[in-house]
Amino acid sequence: MNKIKISPSILSADFSQLGNEIKRLEDGGADMIHVDVMDGHFVPNLTIGPPVIKALRGNTKLPFDVHLMISPVHKYIKDYADAGADIITFHPEATNNLKESIQHVKNLGKKVGVSLNPDTQINLIEEFLTEINLVLIMSVHPGFGGQKFIHKVLDKIKELKIIKVKKNLNFDIEVDGGINFDNSKLVIEAGANILVSGTTIFKSNQGNIKKNIEILKLT
Ligand code: DX5
Ligand code: ZN
Repeated sequence: MNKIKISPSILSADFSQLGNEIKRLEDGGADMIHVDVMDGHFVPNLTIGPPVIKALRGNTKLPFDVHLMISPVHKYIKDYADAGADIITFHPEATNNLKESIQHVKNLGKKVGVSLNPDTQINLIEEFLTEINLVLIMSVHPGFGGQKFIHKVLDKIKELKIIKVKKNLNFDIEVDGGINFDNSKLVIEAGANILVSGTTIFKSNQGNIKKNIEILKLT
């Protein structure tokens, strides 16, 4: 059984204290830091870019799990690699050539992930599953934290896990959006091994990050 990893999203952090918030996450037992990058074009929200990631890089040794909700994405990938991203995940709809963009991330020495929106099917990326390190299954429509978990994606997670086992592949299955103490067990049982959470980790139990990460790991 894969160890369950927690990748807290800083989208729900206090943006005026991002350096300290990242330290709180590391002290609280996070396995990596999920950085939601939004461009106001691919999604109707705008967050942070390479300069902020570069400024935060020195605050932790934890991997930066960078989720690029930007389009076009190919020409910006190197900026995120240079800023300190360790895992670079992007959406297939944001590139004209998925194979080339995957290879570009790998040529930069970074782990590569591809993200599936709730309505995007696995067959769009199935032929690339041997090339990538991670599939990020969106359980909300990307753009905002604090949304409700879309239960239909549980079937997609199960389907992806079956393909992973059948083809003896070892990409991570990460799920992002609306993860809480009530659905995290379902997500893990469906086949996920990395959980992204912003609201639940930063807001539950009076913001006790350590406790919230522990509960998510134990489910
Ligand atoms: C959506 C973002 C969110 C975020 C997690 O584009 O990717 O899913 O990471 O947000 P919560 O945990 O607050 O739903
Ligand atoms: Zn995300």
